[in-house]
Amino acid sequence: MSPRTGVSRRGLFAGLGAAGAVGLTTGGLLGAGAARVPEGEDPARGLTLSRSGPEDGRPPALLTPTPAHVHVVAVDLRAEEPGEVFEQARGVLALWGEHARELHERGLAALAPGAPTQGLSPASLGITLGLGGALLDRAGLGDRRPAPLEDLPAFASDRLDPALCGGDLMLHVGAEDPLVVSAAVEHLLGLVRDRAAVRWSLPGFQRAAATAQDASATPRNLMGQVDGTVNPEPSEAAFGPQVLAAHPESDTSWMDGGSYVVVRRVRMLLDDWFDLAPEARERVIGRRLSDGAPLGRDREDDLPDLAARDEDGDPVVPVDAHVRLASPERTLGARMLRRGFNYDLGWRDGRREAGLLFTAWQADPRTGFTAVQNELDRGGDALNAYVRHEGSAVFAVPPALDPHPAHSLW
Ligand code: HEM
Repeated sequence: MSPRTGVSRRGLFAGLGAAGAVGLTTGGLLGAGAARVPEGEDPARGLTLSRSGPEDGRPPALLTPTPAHVHVVAVDLRAEEPGEVFEQARGVLALWGEHARELHERGLAALAPGAPTQGLSPASLGITLGLGGALLDRAGLGDRRPAPLEDLPAFASDRLDPALCGGDLMLHVGAEDPLVVSAAVEHLLGLVRDRAAVRWSLPGFQRAAATAQDASATPRNLMGQVDGTVNPEPSEAAFGPQVLAAHPESDTSWMDGGSYVVVRRVRMLLDDWFDLAPEARERVIGRRLSDGAPLGRDREDDLPDLAARDEDGDPVVPVDAHVRLASPERTLGARMLRRGFNYDLGWRDGRREAGLLFTAWQADPRTGFTAVQNELDRGGDALNAYVRHEGSAVFAVPPALDPHPAHSLW
């Protein structure tokens, strides 16, 4: 029993684990997603997670392709007293867990008469739930807050709006159809309206596979860049240590095998960007616009040659190019799984409201996102003149419910 809350911690993490399992098994980022892979899609392009070999009895493979549409919602629980926060967290996670499972298995139309999704397929719906660090403190569980879940430091390039940052719980809903995403978000939030208030939310999208000449090609962002080329591959031995958290200690073992997601709302100054000549845009990133190849190299998959010089003796990849500063050489090998989505909310107050819904999944944000963002700022990333980091949050996404008792979350 927790002396502060008077309730069993096991209870919260039991609910949380179940929710995490839903997040994972219904095809969230770490989803056991065989069911999610659309027909004809190459599962190797999706995410296959196999943190541990068959020797420890864990189910080896979890995979999902990046969905075409997402909506990331951060909510705050309404309670203030630790015991009540604890109870609300447990209740909301349990309810979301239960309904997410149903949504995945049967679809919203079967659950809710009159749902907007009547006549639609499940569209690879995937629901992922996360917890903010402040929630654990508020619930009297500060000693169960893993060190990687510390608040992100302030970055030199931050232009953050507090209303677009943080949150007690994250709901990350993805699907191939935007109506399926919207209806699932509305349903899940409607269930907890009395206990949770939306703090911020952002829908994002990628190009539709149906319109892509090559659906397996790396997608482009709203700046026109091929974005997502350099990412840890699930087949690499280093993938697990880089993307999945390791927490053998009992207090934080609820996150052993989970992942920490950093979510950033990065507005793009698109008018300024497209005023630049295409060659200048290429030098900002250090890659070609036509095919995403590093400057001076031939193909998208070629490694950038950071030592190469042109005939005038200048670096082929400029000293302040984004890919130079973000490269493993500069960031002590910091790696994370970047899954970027575009957002486009039109214009607000005459200002373009569009950019990148940046999500990065890692074992530890201190050695992942934070290390890279610090290096981008230190080196004066040329991209900084064309983007504004306006929203920021980090959430713990617990691992799937583990059937192996030795690795059980509770
Ligand atoms: C609107 C903001 C951003 C845009 C438009 C952008 C765009 C790009 C592009 C086009 C690439 C090259 C292709 C690729 O490997 O994906 C890239 C690479 C990369 N970006 Fe960003 N990025 C943004 C923000 C960030 C942030 C916030 C981080 C992390 C703090 C980051 C980390 C990286 C990393 C690690 C690479 C791979 C570098 C390498 O090893 O070659 N990016 N980005």
